[in-house]
Amino acid sequence: MTGLSVSSVALADGDALRGAQVYRACVACHALEPGLHLSGPSLDGLMGRVAGTADGFVRYSSGLRDAGFSWNAAALDGWLEDPASMIPDTYMTFGGIDDPQARADIVAFLEIAGQPEGGKKVVDEGLIPAGWLRAGALDPIGEASPEMRVTALRHCGDSYFITTGDGRETPHWEKNIRLKIDSAESGPPSGVAVILGAGMGGDRFSVIFSSLADLDHLVTERCEAR
Ligand code: HEC
Repeated sequence: MTGLSVSSVALADGDALRGAQVYRACVACHALEPGLHLSGPSLDGLMGRVAGTADGFVRYSSGLRDAGFSWNAAALDGWLEDPASMIPDTYMTFGGIDDPQARADIVAFLEIAGQPEGGKKVVDEGLIPAGWLRAGALDPIGEASPEMRVTALRHCGDSYFITTGDGRETPHWEKNIRLKIDSAESGPPSGVAVILGAGMGGDRFSVIFSSLADLDHLVTERCEAR
């Protein structure tokens, strides 16, 4: 295995296969696909990289951005034991892993997965399912059917009145509608808004725009239907 740093020699021996199971706790927030940032940065190419410098991730805490160290086994061990004691203003809301053996295992896993394109490697070696590479990233909305396409959206009183591509206008209680922007490839094309069921009792929906400009353009305060 490459990338084993001198400082890791003092740590417990880790098992990458067991570590892959510990890594399950990270999948809610981190992808391994290069450049795919979720609420946390992609962990592709992490090993040996200066902390707080993943290309294209713009939401680092100032503490992590200015930390100045590089990720190796010892740094990861400290971080995963208690992120907030290492970087007090961190945005990684993760309680930490108390068990030193579990930490050694996940570090052994990250020594492989955190190489450039390491995600592919851990999938090929059967350590994690392929679905963990994109983790919680949304599937692309793709071709929106007429009932999904929002053509007009007006707000009046405590309600939204939403017109879709099939010509129907439907009233919704304002608390049941979330307006969201998805500017990534998973979002709708520019100029298109889509409405998606958000589970929970069947009357909650998300209306998804590709940009703030689209949202601004489509949502109006108006009580008369046209
Ligand atoms: C609730 C979401 C969440 C979970 C769960 C989570 N992370 Fe994070 N992680 C983040 C965020 C957000 C940041 C950026 C933190 C900051 O800037 O302070 C981050 C940063 C990191 C970094 C630093 C990356 C860099 O570019 O310097 C590493 C390494 C990391 N996480 C590993 C893990 C591992 C391993 C796990 C699982 C044991 C995990 N994280 C669990 C959200 C999460």
